[in-house]
Amino acid sequence: MAIPEHFLVELRGRIGLADLIGRRVKLVKRGREYTGLCPFHNEKSPSFTVNEDKDFYHCFGCSAHGNAINFVMNTEGLSFPEAVERLAVEAGMEVPRSTPRDQEAEARRKDLYAVMQIAAEWFEGQLVGMAGQGARDYLQGRGLNSPTIARFRLGLAPDGRDRMKQTLLTRNITEDQLIEGGLLIKPEDGGDSYDRFRNRLMFPIADAQGRIVAFGGRALGDQRAKYLNSPETPIFHKGNLLYNLANARKPARDGNALVVVEGYMDVIALDQAGLPHAVAPLGTAVTEQQMQAMWRLVAEPSLCFDGDAAGHRAAQRAALRALPLLKPGHSLRFVELPEGEDPDSLVRAKGRDVVGQLVAQGVPLSEMLWRMQVQARKLDTPEQWAGLRKDMRDLVNQIGDGTVKAYYGEHFKQRLETAFAPTQSYTGPNAAPRRANFGGRNRPPWGQRPLYAPPIPAHKGLGRGRDADTLPRERQLIAALLNHPDLIHEVFEDVGELHLKSPELDNIRRAIIEKATSGVPLDLEGLKDNLQFGGTANASNRLIVELTGPGIAQLEPFARPDATLPRAKKDWTSVFRRHRLEDLRQDLRQAEDDFGREMTDEKQTRFLALKAAVDEATAEAASFED
Ligand code: UTP
Ligand code: MN
Repeated sequence: MAIPEHFLVELRGRIGLADLIGRRVKLVKRGREYTGLCPFHNEKSPSFTVNEDKDFYHCFGCSAHGNAINFVMNTEGLSFPEAVERLAVEAGMEVPRSTPRDQEAEARRKDLYAVMQIAAEWFEGQLVGMAGQGARDYLQGRGLNSPTIARFRLGLAPDGRDRMKQTLLTRNITEDQLIEGGLLIKPEDGGDSYDRFRNRLMFPIADAQGRIVAFGGRALGDQRAKYLNSPETPIFHKGNLLYNLANARKPARDGNALVVVEGYMDVIALDQAGLPHAVAPLGTAVTEQQMQAMWRLVAEPSLCFDGDAAGHRAAQRAALRALPLLKPGHSLRFVELPEGEDPDSLVRAKGRDVVGQLVAQGVPLSEMLWRMQVQARKLDTPEQWAGLRKDMRDLVNQIGDGTVKAYYGEHFKQRLETAFAPTQSYTGPNAAPRRANFGGRNRPPWGQRPLYAPPIPAHKGLGRGRDADTLPRERQLIAALLNHPDLIHEVFEDVGELHLKSPELDNIRRAIIEKATSGVPLDLEGLKDNLQFGGTANASNRLIVELTGPGIAQLEPFARPDATLPRAKKDWTSVFRRHRLEDLRQDLRQAEDDFGREMTDEKQTRFLALKAAVDEATAEAASFED
């Protein structure tokens, strides 16, 4: 239900932001703002500020940002409506229930929670009662002890057509409620309704606040579906929930670790073994809402899926699903289990320490994506490498957050450079056997520099004929970055790939990247400090002054400070692509000459790789123009 904006504004107004945050963070008043140690990341000196006038908090260290509602969501792991409810209680306000119809629906939902609660008690009673002997034996065989069974409120849906229905109808619950709650199935043909769950072990599913909203039922006989879940109901949306979320919240936050497994039994077995920070999706692929719920608890949940083909597929789907959702600091880790094992079997066979160690060894999302790409393909020719590069870039382009995207771009670019190793067939019969050098330090086979890697040796470049027209272009590209401090964040990846003939301009380029990655805003004075490393600092300094001052008039419109950011970005990218293309073409001509003079495998490899790169860049430049 939408909460009216005016209510939210009033609510935030009544809750003093510094008051609220001050309960968790020691704040010191500095002028109009408060500062303190950021509660969202570890730091020794304060970069967290609270601005009451503008109604936000902001951390200059980790970019955490928001208002009172966000703060409660992020520190207490609550959803938006939950956080609003919390703050409203504190402020003595009533969250408006907009219309009578909403109120009625709300009342019906309240009833449904009660119905689920009564049903859960009834299932529990069946399990401990006479009908439960077989199910109890089954649970014992699976190693679950009584306290665990009670903690997870496991139950039994007995065999028979409508035993639950008959009992619950005598307890002031209507048939309609049971149908609405998904406990009864009403046949289409108008026949009598009957129990949905029969001869099944029952796992109550609770929402984020711990209220039972649904059930999962595991077959005890030879029914067709091993698990049957409640259907979607007014109180149960399975894509929004994680099994065991309410119980796992505190241990996950306390230990800053969350383990995401596939099955109910996995969660329960881990909990019994002393690993209470596990949750599971409800038999479907991990959804966006589920990921957000995980990230409200910890920055990097560990996915620990079964060691079989289905588990691997599920992990890969989750990896791809996460890309558009990534935020600075938020990611996933992936834990690979031994073939044929799931967390349940593993923890019972090997104990919690072994599982804990495996989880601790989970690989980051970036590694997972890399493996997904390189494991499934042959990498024997430059074309295949070019294909890998393109696919990696497509993946990176799915990342929604600009900063994360820029870092991923850099990361994979470097990996591709270091991973590339010549194949035997290209390096001649006496060469060492091919070793794709994932993570190693080998450079690509073509002498001076990897295809897209930065530093241009200073001796190369200046004074050659082609510089007549590339130099002005280089100046435009750098001038635009200087005159639009936000532009670097829009084109970060490209700036990393930008080759500049001029060492002075390249020095500035590197300083800009350094500044951008340190998280502080780009200011010209600060930039000058980052220049001191190179031997060209003075010349670079003069260039900065010129390109941002007297020289502005000679710049193209996009490079001047008065251009809008979208305009600057668009033209910058277009100029960059042309620049890169010409750069590559130049190299290609050179490589072709070299190859013509001396037809070695190495020269041929370099020529072919450059040709592929030029084709790719040409296609890219063309696609950008339209
Ligand atoms: P698993 O088959 O791995 O279940 O399915 P499990 O929890 O390990 O169960 P045991 O060990 O065989 O008893 C993982 C999850 O997928 C969903 C359930 O949520 C289950 O916990 N599932 C599985 C279904 O929804 N329907 C099915 O038919 C099977
Ligand atoms: Mn299992």
